[in-house]
Amino acid sequence: QILPRLYHENVIDHYDNPRNVGSLDKNDPTVGTGLVGAPACGDVMKLQVKVDNDGRIVDARFKTFGCGSAIASSSVVTEWVKGKTIDEALTIKNTEIAKHLSLPPVKLHCSMLAEDAIKAAVKDIKSKMVGVNPEVAPVE
Ligand code: FES
Ligand code: FES
Repeated sequence: QILPRLYHENVIDHYDNPRNVGSLDKNDPTVGTGLVGAPACGDVMKLQVKVDNDGRIVDARFKTFGCGSAIASSSVVTEWVKGKTIDEALTIKNTEIAKHLSLPPVKLHCSMLAEDAIKAAVKDIKSKMVGVNPEVAPVE
């Protein structure tokens, strides 16, 4: 008998073995920090990126106080952003995350949290880079 699968194997994998859990020094000038909460459930996600001089993401970390889907979503995002420029990271959509993890509709806000977190982290690192690198345009 086949039991119904509640979660796609990618979620189980990222839930059991979350990648890049932890923190970077938020006062490091090359680190951007995004801290966001989901009003629907009260879950909180912190996502951090470390960039090189060209604004390419060389490292990422997260800490998520939330459900398995939120943890899996943040884990996926930290994997995806590494090697991307901060502008490329801004193009990551929660729909892509949700599709990758096959999240059910009630869990879409969990992937939304990850999109919001990466946007907030990029906004933070851009605000640090403005003035240091005039080619960096601030995020609205
Ligand atoms: Fe890890 Fe796709 S299974 S990012
Ligand atoms: Fe709210 Fe998943 S249930 S982030």
